[in-house]
Amino acid sequence: MALVAPSLLAANFLKLEEECKMLNESEADWFHLDIMDGRFVPNISFGPMVVKFVRKTTKKYCDVHLMIVETWHYFNPFKEAGADNLSIHIEACPELLKNVREIRSLGMDAGVAISPDSPVAGLTEVLPHINVVCMMSVYPGFGGQEFIPGTMDRIRQLRRMIDENGLNVKIEIDGGVTEENAASIVAVGADVLVAGNTVFKSPNPKATIMHLKNS
Ligand code: DX5
Ligand code: ZN
Repeated sequence: MALVAPSLLAANFLKLEEECKMLNESEADWFHLDIMDGRFVPNISFGPMVVKFVRKTTKKYCDVHLMIVETWHYFNPFKEAGADNLSIHIEACPELLKNVREIRSLGMDAGVAISPDSPVAGLTEVLPHINVVCMMSVYPGFGGQEFIPGTMDRIRQLRRMIDENGLNVKIEIDGGVTEENAASIVAVGADVLVAGNTVFKSPNPKATIMHLKNS
């Protein structure tokens, strides 16, 4: 049984309220909110203002994935917008541990996101200080990409690092998660499945969420 975190990046923004309502009525556990600045990643999505509106629709956990440069400037705005968790990229933060502590001192959970080409061992030092690793299974920037198969070994490696040290850190897999590959991703140690297109382009999003959850 995995936690499911639908990514609103794939939602219809003209009907954002309805999309949030659907998620609220579904078995979804988290709302995954992808913040892109056109610099850390080539794409631009949305900022704290949209997070604030989404927050008003839900009591569910708002998981904010920051794909931005100089991310530390935005901890406060996202706290004020109502984020429960901020995940920051290991590639974007030269002072990762300091930033993680800042996020927690603001009363939010802290996550570290890691892109497909960054070694998992790079997480060793920060792991005891975070709540979640957002492991990218695609190159960050766009929804609707294909799951990178090499991610499976990276999940196994991270699972071992967490378990051998008795840590309570969730492994969240982000990108290209489908109803077909979800079970195998959970089988190697994932706790949370992010799903954008798989949920929002489904003819029956609530059933898809349920199916992902039971993976
Ligand atoms: C990619 C984002 C993902 C993305 C997932 O940079 O971090 O959260 O929205 O979308 P799908 O599930 O469609 O790959
Ligand atoms: Zn994401």
